[in-house]
Amino acid sequence: MPKRPLEHPPGTASARNLSPIRPPLPDTPIALLGNLTPAQFMRRYWQKKPLLIRKAIPDIVPPLSRDALFELAGGDDVESRLITHFRNRWQLEHGPFAPDELPPVKQRAWTLLVQGVDLHDDRARALLDRFRFVPDARLDDLMISYATDGGGVGAHFDSYDVFLLQVHGKRRWRFGAQRDLSLREDLPLKVLQHFEPEEEWVLEPGDMLYLPPHIAHDGVAEGECMTCSIGFRAPSTQELTGQFLYHLAERSDTGGDVRELYRDPKQPAVNHPAQLPVALVERVGSILAKVSWDARAVSTFLGTYLSEPKPSVVFDPPVRPLTETRFIERASKNGVRLDRKSILLYDARFYFLNGEENRLAGVKKWLIELADSRFMSAKRFVTLSDDSSVTALLHEWYCAGWIQVGELA
Ligand code: SIN
Ligand code: CO
Repeated sequence: MPKRPLEHPPGTASARNLSPIRPPLPDTPIALLGNLTPAQFMRRYWQKKPLLIRKAIPDIVPPLSRDALFELAGGDDVESRLITHFRNRWQLEHGPFAPDELPPVKQRAWTLLVQGVDLHDDRARALLDRFRFVPDARLDDLMISYATDGGGVGAHFDSYDVFLLQVHGKRRWRFGAQRDLSLREDLPLKVLQHFEPEEEWVLEPGDMLYLPPHIAHDGVAEGECMTCSIGFRAPSTQELTGQFLYHLAERSDTGGDVRELYRDPKQPAVNHPAQLPVALVERVGSILAKVSWDARAVSTFLGTYLSEPKPSVVFDPPVRPLTETRFIERASKNGVRLDRKSILLYDARFYFLNGEENRLAGVKKWLIELADSRFMSAKRFVTLSDDSSVTALLHEWYCAGWIQVGELA
């Protein structure tokens, strides 16, 4: 589906916002983490305890204006929710929302949540990239919430880590590590039955709160406000097991001949036809007992599964693609970058681009650089451009809409 152009608030188009964000170095202190190094943050706080960071991004500009966010929430390929708390009653509606379906901005106590904004906006993607001290395999998306005065989603807990970055206006956060996480059953959204906050802070633009999973929290807008949530993915054991077994069966990686059909030459005639034959259960048990895998199969599964684009993602191939020669000329001047929707992961022997697996041998050096920085400078491209297999591959990715020529436009 063609994307509608998004309006950006004035002032967002600074060169600093648009140049590729290099992943933070593990041992260099960064303001984003309150001058901790990413290594210190991961050791002391990640999955362990909350951290409030004042002025994490002091000059923050919302990646999208309010109007652009509302427009995005009207797209049917965008996941959005409207939560209202009018006359003390919680209500939840799922998008898409036409602009006139949202309450007036002058009305108190409502909030619009738009998930996966990084897939639709390069500035949101660049903001998400600042958190790449956590592996891409764990990074999920950037959600933006807009709220009018008094708006919020109620006191709740999340099962995932989250960085709550205030990008416009103020929000009062109360949170605590309570044991009782029972939820009200009478509501369409997750709201705690009893909320006993231990801490309370008002976040201003640029401030950020990190919360590990299962910390009870409630954020209430003080005046109109916007908050970016940087969320992480943590598949459940049930999801991993189900998906892995499906992957194994698809690839016929299981031991034995997967095409062999069930046979029962010794099946006697029965007088209880509805009864499951014991021999069938035993035979299937022995077939399943032969299913086997190794670390390679697990790595391949994770690489393809975690680099698979979300179901709503559609790449936008160029309408009139450059020929390979023109592509080389352009990329030699401007470099190339991964499209904001592309996921490129690698392990010791393979790389995984948008759910497809390929051998790393032959492309290892530059592919690892491209995957880690999501960008290849013009200078680097020129050093590779003598090799026609490299330019042909990159041109193929460009034609598929997986990479773009140049820095962020
Ligand atoms: C919000 O931004 O309004 C809610 C985010 C959260 O509590 O996880
Ligand atoms: Co939450």
